[in-house]
Amino acid sequence: MSKRIDVENLDVYYGDFLAVEGVSMAIEPRSVTALIGPSGCGKSTFLRTLNRMHEVIPGARVEGRAVMDGQDLYAPEVDPVQVRRQVGMVFQRPNPFPTMSIADNVLAGVRLNNKRISKGDAADTVERSLRGANLWNEVKDRLDKPGSSLSGGQQQRLCIARAIAVEPQVLLMDEPCSALDPISTLAIEDLMSELKNDYTIVIVTHNMQQAARVSDRTAFFNIAGTGQPGKLIEMADTPTMFSSPSVPATEDYISGRFG
Ligand SMILES: Nc1ncnc2c1ncn2[C@@H]1O[C@H](COP(=O)(O)OP(=O)(O)O)[C@@H](O)[C@H]1O
Ligand SMILES: [Mg+2]
Repeated sequence: MSKRIDVENLDVYYGDFLAVEGVSMAIEPRSVTALIGPSGCGKSTFLRTLNRMHEVIPGARVEGRAVMDGQDLYAPEVDPVQVRRQVGMVFQRPNPFPTMSIADNVLAGVRLNNKRISKGDAADTVERSLRGANLWNEVKDRLDKPGSSLSGGQQQRLCIARAIAVEPQVLLMDEPCSALDPISTLAIEDLMSELKNDYTIVIVTHNMQQAARVSDRTAFFNIAGTGQPGKLIEMADTPTMFSSPSVPATEDYISGRFG
């Protein structure tokens, strides 16, 4: 269920504005890759290109390649809807459908792809996904209650359940804990360590401790100044990045001297 992504010389534009320039990186399967760097350096922009989510923004486009297990995600015959089914996304603020039940929230993405899912299959998918998101025991007796009845941390795990319900290969998470309290944050971090057995995970985080705790590899992005494109400065396995980065700017950022 887990795939690698090889990004080759990717540029991302919003209209004429080059927001991210020349990113090449290998994203390994069954591991967590963390994207770090100061605000505005293009982490979210880059992340969205991995499932073509930027295409919903008018004028946003890429040059270069992103290849998932040999398939160029940007090849003309590739359907972006299929890419998003294989590469799921979890956002900064938990965004369950508030009036929809917990079970229907889990099934929301599945129903987009398969309107005729049977009751039995639906119940199986709900249980498997909620178990996968470490939420089943907390909600199994109230699956028909609205998604908004859950705490923030539970809502974020519900969004993760919704993302894994469609059986993606890759999970993208853009600062998934930034709206959560420390206990909920640890629950999501534990969950990431479990999910990486099955999925390729890419996470954007502002929290250096979190990057150090959960990720296998870390990529540092930076920006030379306003109006300049964000660039990948360096990428290495996480212990190396945090103990002996090769670029001074990485060390300055990791040690809190800027950003
Ligand atoms: N929808 C958008 N339209 C135009 N420019 C955008 C859009 N989203 C982000 N940008 C610009 O792209 C650059 C990178 O932003 P972003 O990817 O959000 O950075 P980060 O996630 O690292 O904080 C910034 O200059 C930002 O203003
Ligand atoms: Mg961002």
